[in-house]
Amino acid sequence: MILVTGGAGYIGSVTVSELVTRGYEVVVLDDLSTGHRDVVPTSIPFVQGDIADQALLSSVFADYGVSAVVHFAAKSLVGESVKDPLLYVESNLCKTSAMLRVMQRHNVHALVFSSSAAVYGEPDATPITEDHRKQPISPYGLSKWWIEQVLYWCHTAWGLSPISLRYFNAAGAVPSLSLRERHNPETHLLPRVLSAWAEGEPAQVFGTDYPPSDGSAIRDYVHVQDLATAHVLALEATLKGQAGAYNVGTGRGYSVLEILAAVEQATSTLLPRTYLPRRVGDPAVLVADSTRLQRSLGWRPQQSDLSTIVSSTLAALKTG
Ligand SMILES: NC(=O)c1ccc[n+]([C@@H]2O[C@H](COP(=O)([O-])OP(=O)(O)OC[C@H]3O[C@@H](n4cnc5c(N)ncnc54)[C@H](O)[C@@H]3O)[C@@H](O)[C@H]2O)c1
Repeated sequence: MILVTGGAGYIGSVTVSELVTRGYEVVVLDDLSTGHRDVVPTSIPFVQGDIADQALLSSVFADYGVSAVVHFAAKSLVGESVKDPLLYVESNLCKTSAMLRVMQRHNVHALVFSSSAAVYGEPDATPITEDHRKQPISPYGLSKWWIEQVLYWCHTAWGLSPISLRYFNAAGAVPSLSLRERHNPETHLLPRVLSAWAEGEPAQVFGTDYPPSDGSAIRDYVHVQDLATAHVLALEATLKGQAGAYNVGTGRGYSVLEILAAVEQATSTLLPRTYLPRRVGDPAVLVADSTRLQRSLGWRPQQSDLSTIVSSTLAALKTG
């Protein structure tokens, strides 16, 4: 049985669906702080609770015979982390530590961890390889990097087999399953732009003076379904005792203005825009070199072209 923490969230719910499709038995633990109960089918065991509740977690491990953990549960608002850094130490680092202690007690060694491109901070060069120096520019990114380092030491000390996936920008949706980003507040570009479009509001562009390209920030968008596939491959690897850290991205960056142009094309509308200052903690360019993931685990992005990302998000928004 695979325990998916945060399986009622955006990436977690798509990964749960992919795991079940591939024949894995899954139990979801989620406190529903940002997730939604309705995205986990009722046929899948669901436990509402906190990953730091060690008594609850222990009973989940014992009752379901958990053999591996796919760990999405976290707080992930960069701006919030800048305003309240300790919240991110407590919610991400400390709670993950509590969960790891239960894994250790139950002799569960297989772990896939949701890390982030935010561990790198402002990169020296792009595309970014896994060996690039880690200098996070937000407490959120720092919390992910600290966890990765703790995982390494648990690997050394008691044989944990952690695989950290450093996602770049998760995007896209799975309209056939009504799975899409439903964060509140929403900080991610595509859902923000599409809801602005749906409500007839201007799209907000944060930062117009980034050095490269057209002045807006450049990101590497990876479809959530391709992320789910990466998790299945990582799970298979960790179950065989492998450990490591992998970037998950396409190697192709798009500026904010290019994303707006793609949305204009998909919706056949001209989007009014509001230009705003940069957001704290937002680097200029984040583009992944995912060669390691492709070579070691055989991952290939299948749905991460921009038109599929935009059209799937739009379709999911329309279906509700
Ligand atoms: N979305 C992205 O672009 C992106 C990029 C890089 C990394 N990540 C990481 O991927 C993971 C999933 O991101 P997402 O966008 O799906 O976020 P999300 O907020 O949609 O999902 C997180 C889920 O975890 C649950 N949760 C949070 N804290 C919990 C706790 N203490 N106990 C139990 N459940 C808890 C929430 O209710 C939610 O369902 C996060 O760890 C995030 O930091 C996301």
